[in-house]
Amino acid sequence: MNRILEPELMEDDAQAQAYAEADFSQENQGFVDRFRTSFPDFFEGHVLDLGCGPGDIPIRFARAMPGCLVIGVDASAPMVQLAEEAVRQAGLSGRITFLCERFQAVALSEPADAAISNSLLHHVPNPLQFWHKLRLAVKPGSPVLVMDLLRPESPEEAQAIVDLHASKAPDILRRDFYNSLLAAFTEDEVAAQLAEMNLSRLMIDVPDGRHWVVGGLV
Ligand SMILES: C[S@@+](CC[C@H](N)C(=O)[O-])C[C@H]1O[C@@H](n2cnc3c(N)ncnc32)[C@H](O)[C@@H]1O
Repeated sequence: MNRILEPELMEDDAQAQAYAEADFSQENQGFVDRFRTSFPDFFEGHVLDLGCGPGDIPIRFARAMPGCLVIGVDASAPMVQLAEEAVRQAGLSGRITFLCERFQAVALSEPADAAISNSLLHHVPNPLQFWHKLRLAVKPGSPVLVMDLLRPESPEEAQAIVDLHASKAPDILRRDFYNSLLAAFTEDEVAAQLAEMNLSRLMIDVPDGRHWVVGGLV
């Protein structure tokens, strides 16, 4: 099955609200834990979260890594509003800030010390823009960890995944999940992107049947 693009940004209020209310705790905490075990010597610095959504991962990351300041980037205004409110309620406004802009346009005063990104790449029409920006956004040799969905073989398989993992979720979330699966990349496509961008130091892993993870020092 070829990739079918979905809208780049999650700008609809109801869509952002449904995403913020969904329980991604296991996946998100697993992502943060994976960063810590992958980079045990990394303790402090500015960490960029590209496509941060409603802020759950920045909050988990900041709690797990007390020496880090997190900069979340998301071009959806409703998402950033939800993220700012979640961070305020978590008492972490001093350590987590947000930029409401497309990652392609982000210009930091100096590169970050690490970068993370979960579930962004499948939204992006040209994935090479993402890998290009990721490399420029951090200092040479910095840790990066990127995770996203794997595209299934067929629309029927995508629907079966939605039914299996989100049977009780609101319709809007089930629709977005289905569309995200169709817009996602295969392991081979991601490996080809890394090769094209000369990011050969990054390793790709498929930890379960639904996700790929790319990590390493960039
Ligand atoms: C599926 S959500 C993932 C949110 C979060 N990373 C998480 O794992 O919970 C993807 C987010 O990426 C944002 N996004 C998509 N394209 C973007 C771009 N070019 N620049 C910045 N944010 C973008 C969307 O608005 C959306 O909030």
